[in-house]
Amino acid sequence: MVSWAITGATRGIGLGFVDNLSVDPKNQVFAIIRSRGTAGPLEELAAKRKNIQIVVTDISDPRKLDQAAAEVSKVTVGSLDVLILNAGSAEPETSTLPPSAFRGKEEALEKEINENVKANLISNIYVINSFLDLVRNGKEKKIVFISSPSGDVEFNRVTGISTVLGYSVSKAGMNIVTTKFGAELAQDGIKTLSLSPGWVNTDAAQAVTGAPDIRKFMLNAFRKIDQSVNEPISVDESVTHQLQVIQSLTEANSGKFVTHHGNVDWF
Ligand SMILES: NC(=O)c1ccc[n+]([C@@H]2O[C@H](COP(=O)([O-])OP(=O)(O)OC[C@H]3O[C@@H](n4cnc5c(N)ncnc54)[C@H](OP(=O)(O)O)[C@@H]3O)[C@@H](O)[C@H]2O)c1
Repeated sequence: MVSWAITGATRGIGLGFVDNLSVDPKNQVFAIIRSRGTAGPLEELAAKRKNIQIVVTDISDPRKLDQAAAEVSKVTVGSLDVLILNAGSAEPETSTLPPSAFRGKEEALEKEINENVKANLISNIYVINSFLDLVRNGKEKKIVFISSPSGDVEFNRVTGISTVLGYSVSKAGMNIVTTKFGAELAQDGIKTLSLSPGWVNTDAAQAVTGAPDIRKFMLNAFRKIDQSVNEPISVDESVTHQLQVIQSLTEANSGKFVTHHGNVDWF
């Protein structure tokens, strides 16, 4: 058995990982979620596939995460092969503002940065630390952070996208944290990776690039990188590619930030 834990597993890419992995009865899949409120499709899947276990926790609370890790440990007898940090969101409505628009709006700026850093960076450090002993005992010893092109300097430089400030800062920051964990844990044989999933057709993508005028603006920006891009890829396509990249994660490429193609092709 290969054991996998995926955070943010109710919808979108997280649910895609659970669906794709649990097809193989040799995988044991832990779907880590914050609430059953949006977990209808996941629960339906788990009712059909006995190798899926749903674990409800709060990734902003280390004590609850320790309990979640203990739940996983009971099933796996103290180990976890692959931890996927997928939960993430672009927080407040101020995400449409470029940096200079925050002049005189210090409170809004702090909220924009802090909420995203709390949700997408600090919580992920809590998740890693709570599950680390299990990963140490795993066979694969892989920790994968689902990042975003928004967290890449060159992507932002070339596309000229100046908004989604806090989200971008949180993803760029977590890329560094992931590299730091890789540096620290190499001696234990643990590999880490920051992985961009591509532009993927999910609720989150719909929220950020769904409105027709924003979609047009984003497409123009994206086409500065890749002229052929037209629309987001499906969850299934993204997850299939990502799993190939995770498969090929070794000590040699541990700590890197790559795309679902395993390189710097963002789309
Ligand atoms: N879609 C894209 O094009 C794209 C591009 C780049 C990066 N990403 C990244 O890919 C990951 C998955 O995104 P998605 O597109 O699949 O989004 P999605 O469809 O909105 O799903 C997000 C998942 O994360 C969970 N989540 C969000 N904030 C959370 C929090 N604070 N604590 C616990 N769970 C939380 C949600 O749970 P609930 O159901 O409870 O809300 C849901 O399960 C994210 O990290 C995102 O930044 C996506």
